Amino acid sequence: MLYIGIDLGTSSVKLLLMDSSGKIVNIVTEEYPVSYPHPGWSEQRPEDWYEKTVAGVRKLIREADREQIAGISFGGQMHGLVILDRDDQVIRPAILWNDGRTGEETAYLNTTIGKEKLSEYTANIAFAGFTAPKLLWVRKHEPENFARIAKIMLPKDYLAYRLTGVFCTDMSDASGMLLFDVKNRRWSREMCEICGIAPSQLAKCYESYETVGTVLPQVARELGVPASVKVAAGAGDNAAAAVGTGTVGDNRCNISLGTSGTIFLSSKKFGVDSNNALHSFAHADGNYHLMGCMLSAASCNKWWMDDITGRGDYGAEQKDITDLGENHVFFLPYLMGERSPHNNPDARGVFIGMSMDTTRADMTQAVLEGVAFALRDSLEVAKSLGLRIESTRICGGGAKSPLWKRIVANVLNLKVEMIEVEEGPALGGAMLAAVACGEFGSVEEAAEKLVKVTDAIEPEPELAEKYERQYRKFREIYPACKPLFEIIK
Ligand code: XUL
Repeated sequence: MLYIGIDLGTSSVKLLLMDSSGKIVNIVTEEYPVSYPHPGWSEQRPEDWYEKTVAGVRKLIREADREQIAGISFGGQMHGLVILDRDDQVIRPAILWNDGRTGEETAYLNTTIGKEKLSEYTANIAFAGFTAPKLLWVRKHEPENFARIAKIMLPKDYLAYRLTGVFCTDMSDASGMLLFDVKNRRWSREMCEICGIAPSQLAKCYESYETVGTVLPQVARELGVPASVKVAAGAGDNAAAAVGTGTVGDNRCNISLGTSGTIFLSSKKFGVDSNNALHSFAHADGNYHLMGCMLSAASCNKWWMDDITGRGDYGAEQKDITDLGENHVFFLPYLMGERSPHNNPDARGVFIGMSMDTTRADMTQAVLEGVAFALRDSLEVAKSLGLRIESTRICGGGAKSPLWKRIVANVLNLKVEMIEVEEGPALGGAMLAAVACGEFGSVEEAAEKLVKVTDAIEPEPELAEKYERQYRKFREIYPACKPLFEIIK
């Protein structure tokens, strides 16, 4: 049989066709724009996601035996607020995961309602990108839109709704709304009251590998697939990526170097760190995970290479970088503010340490290193919980760079395992569809059978030691800049 995995990302939707043996038959990518109507805001049109997904599916299966297509599922950008009215019309553009407009609402939730209560109700505290603060923002700034809301959904759930007509979400993605009681895997009545919404405005919540329905007949015709195709709930992109890299079950780690950067720790037990610096979410395998999320990771390198230096050719630029662990330039990668662990939407990017002999390559290196140092910040929190992490899988666009992977291995002092197919969320989506269709008995079984480690980068003791010293310097820079971010905002 064939399974379609849809990775609904921030810059594009990636579609992947996988057969029962895990072989990738085809991959198609369709891009769409992000709009930044104010500094620190980011929005997208849900209609673009659907149109590009439909166009992508048609291309994806052009050469395939369509009768073999059994299931579709998703990994989706998390936290985005999609609101529909009674006639199922999108009320306003979706407010995305890296949108920082909700500073006030986040502060209200964390201080007036209080972090203890939020953590008790949801296992998390408020971060600017989460969905609940966005609802409060719409209530205050766009009351006429707030009054029209009939359905509140997350980005990939909009696709599922258009494909099946079923108003659904999954536990992993729901966890990032701050409306969900993660420990008990159900909506939080208290959080609904705080946000002024009714539980009926929220979707039915499924496990990621459960079938929510089949494609609607007119959609099946539009896509060119059989009407029997099942749609599984899917997962937030990080949980889906973790499935795609085999980061399931207990005590495994995955790093994603995508537009955002995440460090994802799977666990069979529910857990929270004492400061809620890491997100505590449900996992797509039916268990739990902890996650640190930085808002700009591979996007920092993209910004630097495409928008600032105009160099474009990432590989050629990285060839000139040889002196690892000794850079005198440092970079704070907070181009969209920062989530974990600083929780500061006003933080911004900073280069520091340049002198007349600084080269462009030093600055490129500082960008790659800055992202790795920022991931290390979240790893430190995980270690403070007593978690022993010795190796990690890796995926996302940034993982295509051998240099960046070596930097990550040495800055985090972790063995970085490479897997055969690095298409994290799209592959994870296809695997969830396969589980829903009965091809595998569980997500863990699918991961065991389909994910293959092909190579690994071990940390080099001397370089890891140098990076340890560099990391200690990096840690001093954010606290020194923090008051300045207040002044320049
Ligand atoms: C996770 C997060 C990002 C988005 C990116 O909490 O906000 O990783 O899911 O798509």
